[in-house]
Amino acid sequence: VSVVRASAGVKRPEYIPNRIDDPNYVRIFDTTLRDGEQSPGATLTSKEKLDIAKQLAKLGVDIIEAGFPIASPDDFEAVRAIAMEVGNDVQEDGYVPVICGLSRTKFADLERAWDAVRHAKRPRVHTFIATSEIHMQYKLRMTREQVIENAVAAVKHLRSLGCNDIEFSPEDAGRSDPEFLYQVLGEVIKAGATTLNIPDTTGWNLPHEFGDLIAKIKKNTPGADNVIISTHCQNDLGLSTANSIAGAIAGARQIECTINGIGERAGNASLEEVVMAIALKGQDQMGGLRTGIRPVHIYPASRMVSDYSGMMVQPHKAIVGANAFAHESGIHQDGMLKNRETYEIMTPETIGLSRNPEDAGIVMGKHSGRNALSTRLTQLGFELSPQEVDDVFKRFKALADKKKGITDEDLLALVGDEVHQA
Ligand code: KIV
Repeated sequence: VSVVRASAGVKRPEYIPNRIDDPNYVRIFDTTLRDGEQSPGATLTSKEKLDIAKQLAKLGVDIIEAGFPIASPDDFEAVRAIAMEVGNDVQEDGYVPVICGLSRTKFADLERAWDAVRHAKRPRVHTFIATSEIHMQYKLRMTREQVIENAVAAVKHLRSLGCNDIEFSPEDAGRSDPEFLYQVLGEVIKAGATTLNIPDTTGWNLPHEFGDLIAKIKKNTPGADNVIISTHCQNDLGLSTANSIAGAIAGARQIECTINGIGERAGNASLEEVVMAIALKGQDQMGGLRTGIRPVHIYPASRMVSDYSGMMVQPHKAIVGANAFAHESGIHQDGMLKNRETYEIMTPETIGLSRNPEDAGIVMGKHSGRNALSTRLTQLGFELSPQEVDDVFKRFKALADKKKGITDEDLLALVGDEVHQA
């Protein structure tokens, strides 16, 4: 029931970069085209990026991070094309998605990013610099003071270019000293940042740690009440969705994620998991949290990203995996045939996946039971007596022990044998 409620035309708050006019609205920031494309081997062409951006807009994504414009001339062109086209295209609910480009704090990067996104109705630049000791010492070779100086200068430079929707990320925040984070973040707010994104860059945090970090940042950073706090959770320990949800419960109102969870190393928080968790449990268990995503477009988006990027979706992937709505064991199949809510917490149709309404996702195999077999045989047009079904069932089990899956053709052959023997 909650899924239907969640997908039925959620009204979005008016978009103003740093204003939270609905305290329970969680903005979905999709970074499939930026962090997702950083998956080794997932390079996308400009045309593919534009198609995906259109699908993300249809899905109801609030902010599309279209790329890293300084990274290559192609990336610049792709971000610019998305800003021009998707960034000016009014969606069915009247919303025009924000188009964002990533940038280091170097002025040349910032200018390139702004140049790419400024054609959108709602352009955003996302700038970042690392704040953990290990990154500052070994990668940046900068002191804390230099990091603050760079961060503040970057935000001010963006303001001077005319950009008023500015996201700042302290990279590796999940391993940074919280006291230093409050200081950096307070300074970039003063300089004009409107969204503070908190990346758990190495997927190091546990959900309670990450939730705690978000709550402390909200409490201890001067000016934090006037900006949006965001999560960006990598999946190195398989905790990116749990951490993002913990962050939202602790007060983050933007979640960064990707379709199918693609991204650097073990990937990012997966959009479909985060969105469906909020759709199903946001109302009752998260104090009324909601998103503006239209879940019915999830499955087509998942297929498009997997086809274009070549990143296959594992069969048991939550929400969009091939087995996410399939049932093999006899006990589960029996339950499904009696009432689908026994083993499914959402319908496949909710995410835009159509399945034969009669088959209830039942897959015949060695764990299948007599009820599932008999139901399938009836669907195939056979009227067998209970004794005949018993006989077919015995042979079905013997065959299933030897094969990975049993097809309708196998069943036809088994019934043919039965008729022949009779
Ligand atoms: O993982 C990370 O820290 C990032 C930032 C640039 C947000 O991708």
